[in-house]
Amino acid sequence: MVTGYEPLNTLKPVGEDIWIVDGPAIRFYGMPFSTRMTVVRLQNGDLWLHSPTQFDDTLANSLGSLGRVAFLIAPNWIHYAHIQAWQAAFPDAQAYAAPGVAKRALSRGLDISFDHDLRVDRAEIGWIDQIDQLVVQGSRIHHEAVFFHRASRTLVLTDLIENFEASHIPWWMRLLAKPAHILAPDGQMPRDMRATFRGRYAKLREAVQQMIEWGPERIIIAHGRWFEEDAEHELRRAFYFVLK
Ligand SMILES: [Fe+2]
Repeated sequence: MVTGYEPLNTLKPVGEDIWIVDGPAIRFYGMPFSTRMTVVRLQNGDLWLHSPTQFDDTLANSLGSLGRVAFLIAPNWIHYAHIQAWQAAFPDAQAYAAPGVAKRALSRGLDISFDHDLRVDRAEIGWIDQIDQLVVQGSRIHHEAVFFHRASRTLVLTDLIENFEASHIPWWMRLLAKPAHILAPDGQMPRDMRATFRGRYAKLREAVQQMIEWGPERIIIAHGRWFEEDAEHELRRAFYFVLK
C-alpha cells in the first residue's frame, strides 16, 4: 500500500545521530495509517528505537552498521506491535513500555516481555543525559511517553498529534480526517483522544509547557507529515485548547 512516504524501511537522516524510518501502513479502525519509527544513536553508539516499525531484515542490517540496538521503546498503549520481532532479532536490547502497555498486550494474548516500564517524570539511566522524557498525564486512557533529543533539538511524539496529508490518504479517509482535526497542515490531537483528557486539561497543559520549555526545533510524529521546523509554533497551534 502506498503511504506517500516511500522509500519504506529506510533510514532517513533528520539531524546528527537521529533518523526516521517510514514503515508500511497499518489498518486502524479500517483506516490506513502510515507508520514511523525514530532512531537515535547515543554518544556511546547505542541505538534507541522509538515505536519500532514492522521488522525488516535489510533495515536491521543497516541499523547494525550504525551501532548496537540497545533500547526498544513502546511509547503508548497502541504502539507495541512490532517490539517482539525486534527483540527476537536483537535479544540483548532492553524493551521499555509506557504505563499500561504490558497489560494491554497481555489482554490481547500477546506474549511480549518488557524489561522495564518507562518512568513518568524523568528519563531512564541509559539515556538520561541525552534524551529527556515524560509521560503525559491527564487522560483516562492514553498515557504517552514523549521524548526530547537534546543534541538535535527534536521532540519525539507518537499519537498526541496526527497530521495526515490529503494527497497520501484515500478520499473517504479525508472526509473523516478533517472533522477529526488530524488533516495537515492543521493536524492536532484526534478528537476522541482529546475527549479522554476532558476535565483534566491542566495536566496536559503542564506537559505541553514542558515540551515548549525544552526548546524543540522540530517534531517527529508517527502518523502523517512531521514538522521539520517551527516546533514551538506547531505545539501552540495543535494544543491551543489547553494553552488558551
Ligand atoms: Fe498511532
